[in-house]
Amino acid sequence: MDLKETFLPPPHFQETASIRSMEEYERLYAEAQRDPEAFWAERARRLHWFAPWQKVLDWSTPPFAKWFVGGKTNVAYNCLDRHLSYPTSARKSAAQTRGTDQGPFDTNIISRNNQAAIIWEGENFEQRILTYQELHRRVAKFANALKGLGLKPGSRAILYMPMIPEAAIAMLACARLGVTHSVVFGGFSAEALKTRIEDLEAEVVITCDAGLRRGKEILLKQSVDEALAGSACPSVRKVIVCRRLNLHMPMQSGRDLWWDDLTFGISEDCPAEELDSEHPLYVLYTSGTTGKPKGVVHSTGGYLTQVLATLEWVFDPKPGDTYWCTADVGWVTGHSYVVYGPLAAGLTTLMYEGAPDWPKPDRWWRIIEKYRVSVLYTSPTAIRSFVRQGEQWPNGRDLSSLRLLGTVGEPINPAAWKWYHRVIGKERCPIVDTWWQTETGSILISPLPGATPAKPGSATKPLPGVAVDVVDDKGERVPVGKGYLVLTRPWPAMLRTLYKDPERYKENYWSRFPGRYFTGDAATRDEDGYIWVLGRVDDVINVAGHRLSTMEVESSLVRHTAVAEAAVVGAPHEVKGQAIHAFVTLKHDAPADDATADDLREWVSHEIGPLARPERVHFVTALPKTRSGKIMRRLLREIVSTQSVSGDTSTLEDYGVLLKLSQQGKEEEEILGEKK
Ligand code: WTA
Repeated sequence: MDLKETFLPPPHFQETASIRSMEEYERLYAEAQRDPEAFWAERARRLHWFAPWQKVLDWSTPPFAKWFVGGKTNVAYNCLDRHLSYPTSARKSAAQTRGTDQGPFDTNIISRNNQAAIIWEGENFEQRILTYQELHRRVAKFANALKGLGLKPGSRAILYMPMIPEAAIAMLACARLGVTHSVVFGGFSAEALKTRIEDLEAEVVITCDAGLRRGKEILLKQSVDEALAGSACPSVRKVIVCRRLNLHMPMQSGRDLWWDDLTFGISEDCPAEELDSEHPLYVLYTSGTTGKPKGVVHSTGGYLTQVLATLEWVFDPKPGDTYWCTADVGWVTGHSYVVYGPLAAGLTTLMYEGAPDWPKPDRWWRIIEKYRVSVLYTSPTAIRSFVRQGEQWPNGRDLSSLRLLGTVGEPINPAAWKWYHRVIGKERCPIVDTWWQTETGSILISPLPGATPAKPGSATKPLPGVAVDVVDDKGERVPVGKGYLVLTRPWPAMLRTLYKDPERYKENYWSRFPGRYFTGDAATRDEDGYIWVLGRVDDVINVAGHRLSTMEVESSLVRHTAVAEAAVVGAPHEVKGQAIHAFVTLKHDAPADDATADDLREWVSHEIGPLARPERVHFVTALPKTRSGKIMRRLLREIVSTQSVSGDTSTLEDYGVLLKLSQQGKEEEEILGEKK
């Protein structure tokens, strides 16, 4: 191994780590390889089960997997009740609900009644700390409220919330009842929200008056009203509104209810439903290769088993840790590593409501200093934006409580990795670069902080129980070199299907390389067997760690009255990783000027959400197409990234178009250059 660009686990970290060497990792990996089912069964026993499973894995009808078949469990119970001890008088009934044990449990060894479960800070510096006991009480109350509205196992609820404790409370309350939730990121538009409510046929929408972002009120309830206007979303019976800013809100009588009113005086006793291991815990919509978002379905038992196991391997938690994953609960990272994973592990998880640079660029470092945060898990985009703001901001705060750093969501460039390591981690904290996806449910490729020598930019090696491969076009293994990243065996936290669309699930993930799951990512495997994930090879773009489909943005653009045709590609961006560039042909009377470009950017932002706003709009006379009429995105990608064109373009309909495009690109660059 080339040690020049390798960072060994710091000895002080290694000493107390649960996995301390590559030999130990390899032993564990081999054990899982030999008998994956026995391996995962042992991890599942870390959870509480009301009834034992009969079979660890049912893979008789691939690609549809079932894990811990017949087992009964509950995610909220495992995140809350399992950590509580009860007074003697209540112990009996608690023991009764605990049911049949399956093997050795470490449950209830530590009582966390008065330990902080959630530490929350609002953008306006408000602060709330909920202990495990308090969180349990609030979840039970809200679950009883939902029950009162007629929700039961199998019902569906949409959550459209800012980053406040009630978002986690609502998720856990749904989980407690077996109500399948779908969290829609608060930055998505009313239109995007409507599509998701309609697809899920949700009965209830849980939202907030507003959230805060850069001091601005984000009016969530207003977007819900817009989404439900007219005859849209007929499935929705009730809208529950939590008060964040105490804004005056029009409430539709018979439909809208205040969270406070609904839970006032309600019982704190709400037994957790004994749910099938395969019960759908949540659906999370994510962008795919077509315009319509896909509803990724996650299960209960298998999901929590692997989320908990990976959290413990990758973040190596210690008693007293304050753990901060900066993701929003609207994304999968927020599900697995803000709410379910940390709480299942009995950690103190921190939630921050607002922007990282508000009111000043040191806000995050201030939070770390104030709460003595020990683990920070964030995105490369965030790190790159801090690099740009300068070292003086983190240097002005005490970051000595940090002991481990993590990244997720996109490839991290080595320069940003080293900055993170030096400026934030003071060369004392290991960095875990974790690769996974909405579909995988949990981290699958990552260093183990006390064992794996890190190479900046590489997610290193698969975690135990995970079988990855890099293959060529024909599906042949590429031992060393570049290829497609695939997974060759089912894993407990894998998505079970796409909501109401099992065919699309098969087609999307399991057809490109039969028998194997195709991630949509390209990757390189180096001589040491390290995996370097390069990015998407499909029509998905990763903007600031957020997944968007080019088709989604294109469909939005062509709905605008001025647009005839549109093609969207990702262009390299210094901070966001990728930025959206739109190539647009206009209808006759529309002027190709800055005002139209601004109008189109605003349009997309309103239709999908600010994160989809194109960075650049290029007006062109025609789009380059193949003879069969397909837009040549590869070419457009090349134009925006290199300003030059190479390769086989013989199927191009009109070389002139291409030349014009690339000429235009050059001119724009020149103009930009002049401006600088
Ligand atoms: C990318 C986020 C490189 C990848 C949890 C993947 C990464 C997509 C990494 C999933 C990483 C995620 N290195 N690329 N460490 N982590 N990705 O569904 O392209 O929002 O397919 O899940 O992000 O994005 P998603």
